[in-house]
Amino acid sequence: MFSSRLDWAAGPNPLSRLLHNKRSAGAEILDLTESNPTAAGFSYCSQLVLAALADPRSMRYEPAPAGIIAARAAISEYHSNRIPVDRILVTASTSEAYGFLFKLLANPGDEVLAPRPSYPLFEYLAALDSVRVVQYPLVYHGGWAIDFEALGSRITARTRAIVTVNPNNPTGSFLKKAELSQLTALCRTHDLAIISDEVFSDYGFEDDPARVRSLSEVEDVLTFSLSGLSKVSGLPQLKLGWIVVSGPESLRKQALDRLELIADTYLSVGAPVQWAAALLVGSREEIQGQILARARENLALLRNKIGADSPWQVLDVEGGWYAVIQAPRIHTEEEWVLTLLDQDNVLVQPGFFYDFEKEAFLVLSLLTPSDIFGEGVQRILGRA
Ligand SMILES: Cc1ncc(COP(=O)(O)O)c(C=O)c1O
Repeated sequence: MFSSRLDWAAGPNPLSRLLHNKRSAGAEILDLTESNPTAAGFSYCSQLVLAALADPRSMRYEPAPAGIIAARAAISEYHSNRIPVDRILVTASTSEAYGFLFKLLANPGDEVLAPRPSYPLFEYLAALDSVRVVQYPLVYHGGWAIDFEALGSRITARTRAIVTVNPNNPTGSFLKKAELSQLTALCRTHDLAIISDEVFSDYGFEDDPARVRSLSEVEDVLTFSLSGLSKVSGLPQLKLGWIVVSGPESLRKQALDRLELIADTYLSVGAPVQWAAALLVGSREEIQGQILARARENLALLRNKIGADSPWQVLDVEGGWYAVIQAPRIHTEEEWVLTLLDQDNVLVQPGFFYDFEKEAFLVLSLLTPSDIFGEGVQRILGRA
């Protein structure tokens, strides 16, 4: 009856089952996985947001497949006016942008390369377009880097694109300039596009000239840079994302024409959020400041509590909304997360949710309110 696109196991896992049981029994859980900024105790300027969404121009329906010019101009401004509006296409989220790009670049059964560990949603997004995700490893030697040998060896005749997440979720590692050169050389050789997920690029903890902030000005490879209001303005509920297209002119134009056709088929982005984009993107510094301050505070606490002689280790992190800690191997990841929840009422994510290649890693959200974060970390460290 149903298509095989949805053949993944969607049932509850042991962690979600235990969480449900604990909450039903009234346990007070310290949730160190909260990554919804609207539920993490930040103070939004709701008047500004709601007033921006009430623009009278929203009462008129004027379909614009690539997006209303005012919204694309706001995104161009976000990119310091270095990207002309005709290279920008709006979508109803970054997730939708992935779907558009898989439709644009891949036939059913084709492959895209995506980093491991990384954000688990790619697998599902690709499956919905009958595209296969092949993972390439990021390796950790005190900092994360792309394993280019492994990446090269995974390119086949069916590979269409390489996804890079910059900075990556949950490792918080930025792409470096030297890596970008290797990446573009590989893509030129094999005729591949780059999909650059830049949703967290404003959340770097320190400046580092070796890092690449955005791939939106890559010239020699067809490149799609993705972001959206979810992270840029901490407003995931408003559903506005975007794609910036860069690369050789002829490919870029063909890609944009085809993307417009895809977007025209759905016309999914509502007018109010597009008219609001200038104000919402323009006022991002207020919420970004709060998020960065909390992430830095939580990270400092973590580094402070996990000293050099601890059996625990905080992995290097350059930006983003997460920290990864390595746990002593006295338990598997699953045992760690289940024990922490069952006995300490602390909820964290296991590394295997993100496909870490080995055990045992725990992923903590740096968006967690700092009192909860501090108490949660105390209980975690008390276990070993
Ligand atoms: C790396 C990454 N890309 C994309 C998304 C999805 O963003 P959106 O809400 O715009 O679909 C997320 C959400 O957490 C993410 O972590």
